[in-house]
Amino acid sequence: METESTSYWDQIDPSRVPAHVAIIMDGNGRWAKERGLARMYGHQKGVEVLHDIARTAKKTGVKYLTLYAFSIENWNRPAEEVNALMDILVDLIERETVLLMEENARLLTVGDTDMLPPNVKKAFDACMEQTSHNTGLKMIFALSYSSRWEITKMVREVAQSAAAGEVSPDEIDEHFVSAHLSTGLQDIPDPDLLIRTSGELRISNFLLWQIAYSELYFTPRRWPEFTDEDFWQAIVDYQHRERRFGKTSEQVR
Ligand code: IPE
Ligand code: IPE
Ligand code: MG
Repeated sequence: METESTSYWDQIDPSRVPAHVAIIMDGNGRWAKERGLARMYGHQKGVEVLHDIARTAKKTGVKYLTLYAFSIENWNRPAEEVNALMDILVDLIERETVLLMEENARLLTVGDTDMLPPNVKKAFDACMEQTSHNTGLKMIFALSYSSRWEITKMVREVAQSAAAGEVSPDEIDEHFVSAHLSTGLQDIPDPDLLIRTSGELRISNFLLWQIAYSELYFTPRRWPEFTDEDFWQAIVDYQHRERRFGKTSEQVR
């Protein structure tokens, strides 16, 4: 019988940890509002949680952790909030670089980072460069990211290559498409598990192609209050699923 002190950590099968966990870190604004605070405080608390969960993911044995930090659609928020968020992200990356080095972790990004203010792009580029030889956890920031933008960009580039005679239409299969998305170009496999916090039951333009067979986990918990236990609970839930990839249960057992 479970006691109150039982941790989900004890229920994790270390041999079946998802290699790639992607998280839609949602609910910062509501968390703050529910406490009578400005939205910005929610974002601030959110990056603290991000730091903790990245360490927890590594400890759990996750190899790739993708964090949806800012969508292309988020550029439409009030300038004040966007600016505050950008400042918070720069602070985070500047502080995190040392820790990523200590942990042998590597930073990668997906998204239209040319849209970022120059100081933000510079901070991320510097961290990516500095951590580029690290061989441990890959922490991937989806930053100014939208899946339709990513797919559209890939199609345009492939069309240009085809027009230049460098690619033949016969070469274009699923493997080719995967390999030419920003994830594939950086050898990032498809997510095994996608977590969304805050109770919203949608994908919000995140990794549409890549999550074709990901296990989805939704929790009402707001991102600023997401804990290690919540993370491990999602992993345990994932481990109880049967990933059939179109086959029958008997075939995959
Ligand atoms: C997620 O929290 C962070 C970003 C989208 C940047 P929100 O800011 O979307 O918080 P809610 O959904 O308004 O509560
Ligand atoms: C998705 O959250 C993007 C991030 C978490 C960065 P949003 O809060 O922007 O998504 P919607 O607008 O509610 O779908
Ligand atoms: Mg939101």
